[in-house]
Amino acid sequence: MLCSKKEFDERIGSILITAEEIKEKIKKAGEYISREYEGKPLLLLSILNGSFVFAADLCREVTIPCEIGFMRVSSYLNGTSSSGDVNIIMDVSQDISGYHVVIAEDIIDTGRTLSVITEKLRRRNPLSLKVVTLLDKPERREVDFKADISLFTIPDLFVAGYGLDCAEYYRNLPYIAVCNV
Ligand code: PRP
Repeated sequence: MLCSKKEFDERIGSILITAEEIKEKIKKAGEYISREYEGKPLLLLSILNGSFVFAADLCREVTIPCEIGFMRVSSYLNGTSSSGDVNIIMDVSQDISGYHVVIAEDIIDTGRTLSVITEKLRRRNPLSLKVVTLLDKPERREVDFKADISLFTIPDLFVAGYGLDCAEYYRNLPYIAVCNV
């Protein structure tokens, strides 16, 4: 549904994390991954939709041979609250048993999505499995889940931008902003 420009501008609040801050952290994460996985078969797995921008920028900071995989998952019934269910809408096409898998996720909120996804992926016997998340919101955690690398820990605010949406808008913002919901 078309959102008016006025509505679009009103719903987005202050910038929480700038594009420059994101770029700097991603560069460091890319360097770390490049060091850690040199000489190993690496699969960077983007969890769609939210991580598409993060994964695109992260993979371009990785300087070693690397495959990219995609998995589409949906866990939210509406724009702001978790349904508790995690559905795989599109599975990764690679046989992950031949790879060291690094999951690129945009945000860990309740922890349900990654808890379910990592359990399912571990059963496929990857050579190793790690999680890199752009944002972590520990105050919202409902299941015990910790990322291996978390670039930014944020308070319990509804945020959008840099791949994250609010009612499907704002994914194209180059920064993370607070959303007025
Ligand atoms: C968001 C986000 C994570 C998940 C985190 O996805 O991209 O995958 O929620 O929440 P959790 O820790 O509470 O499980 P969402 O289902 O909104 O879909 P999207 O990525 O397509 O926006």
